[in-house]
Amino acid sequence: MTKLIVANWKMNGTLVEAHERATAIADGVSLSPAKIVLCPPFVHLLTVAKAIKDSSVSLGAQDCSPEPKGAFTGDVSVPMLAEIGCTYTIVGHSERRQGHAETDEMVNLKASAVSALGLQPIICVGETLLDREEDRAESVVATQIAASLPADLSSYIVAYEPIWAIGTGRTAAASDVQAMHAMIRAEVLRHYPAATVTILYGGSVKASNAAELLALPDVDGLLVGGASLVAEDFIRIAGA
Ligand code: PGA
Repeated sequence: MTKLIVANWKMNGTLVEAHERATAIADGVSLSPAKIVLCPPFVHLLTVAKAIKDSSVSLGAQDCSPEPKGAFTGDVSVPMLAEIGCTYTIVGHSERRQGHAETDEMVNLKASAVSALGLQPIICVGETLLDREEDRAESVVATQIAASLPADLSSYIVAYEPIWAIGTGRTAAASDVQAMHAMIRAEVLRHYPAATVTILYGGSVKASNAAELLALPDVDGLLVGGASLVAEDFIRIAGA
């Protein structure tokens, strides 16, 4: 199965840097068998869209409004993202859930809005360090799966990102990643037996650990933050 490697640039860089990085990545991954998606900040989307126009790389946003239009100051709608060429949108990243109080219900509405317009939501889930220490990581993630995934999509992309592994340099142990991914796959299929399920791992992915993670049977791809900001590193991850 083709692996999916997604770059989440978060709120980093200038427009010029986004253009240069996107151009370098589009060039550098042209022979990679993986499917590559770049998720720049909203205001860099159009520039990145132009930079990757003639390549196999796809464009994604980092978030969206659940509403199609209207008086929602500061928000960006899915129709706007579709119009400039996004085919993916991350929803429910832990930095949105924690920093912007997004609930499972909100994430579900966003994912629904994304898929209704034919874009693919990348739905993030993951436990806190306390959840893991107190032995409830799997139940927390199972609850997020049950509540954050809209019903009846033909294909689900779930990104498992243990919150304590994001931007910390700590990666979850391979055995824990595999166990959680297997649980997530089973849960999604229990709710939606006919769906295709793609499960990404995210949290301090680097060129040095990408191959080991991608070799795990239930890891279908990676969601890469920090290491996706250096074109060379991201190209090495895509090549893993
Ligand atoms: P990181 O971020 O790779 O910098 O840990 C991953 C993410 O938050 O998507």
